[in-house]
Amino acid sequence: MPYLQDTHDKVTTERLRLMKQRNQKICCITAYDGLFARIFEEAGVDLILVGDSLANVFQGKDTTLSVTLEEIIYHTKIVKSAVSRPLVVADMPFMTFQINPDEAVRNAGILLKETECNAVKLEGASNKILQAIEYMTEIGIPVMGHIGLTPQSINKFGTYRVRGKDLEEAEKIYNDAIKLEKAGCFAVLLEKIPATLSQRISQELSVPTIGIGAGQHCDGQILVCSDMLGLSIDFNPRFVRKYANLYDDIRKAVMSYTADVQNSTFPNADESY
Ligand code: KIV
Repeated sequence: MPYLQDTHDKVTTERLRLMKQRNQKICCITAYDGLFARIFEEAGVDLILVGDSLANVFQGKDTTLSVTLEEIIYHTKIVKSAVSRPLVVADMPFMTFQINPDEAVRNAGILLKETECNAVKLEGASNKILQAIEYMTEIGIPVMGHIGLTPQSINKFGTYRVRGKDLEEAEKIYNDAIKLEKAGCFAVLLEKIPATLSQRISQELSVPTIGIGAGQHCDGQILVCSDMLGLSIDFNPRFVRKYANLYDDIRKAVMSYTADVQNSTFPNADESY
């Protein structure tokens, strides 16, 4: 059976479902700009999320709560126009989908129309949110669910600790995953939950699970790009594997440039006209 990642065809929600059926892992990453998005596409990722982690990565904020719909639209437009193969998913910011299903659908529609992204993601599985997801999927807006640790609820929980360690919370997360699939989600993101729980959920659902800090049994993985590239030096949870140390590399490169400018060795004759 061909590995679906080997084709240059656009990634669709249907392709992600097929990848799960064929036991082919789905690789996802966040991006917020065209420069990085293009590199991630070339590297072969299947899905790019323009996450509300924009607040932490780009805006230096402690929480994701302040991100606006306009900011997500701006960054998603740039990412979407930079790539052609990966599925591009836009995160719905806090308070753009929680008030009522009508407002949620309207905002999801604005995101899709203005950015031409392929899908939206939203946190939680309350009744109102499930209704909104049903309505969105019915009218052609694909939705990725997000449960486990949901950073937009930081003020309710007060911490970013692992979720679902006790039986009651684990059962709630498990049942929420099933409800999200029933409501029509094409995938469910599981954040910071025990690997045994995400294994159980991944076996139960027919749509893919995408994990972050949720162990190896998910159908796919996602990391925040600045974390895995070693750009966020103050954030070192155990679920992040650092594939590069760009903070140091960039600092050293710019120090060399600064020194070269200061001692007049840049530019040299070959770099001049
Ligand atoms: O906003 C974000 O980056 C996320 C992560 C969990 C991937 O939702």
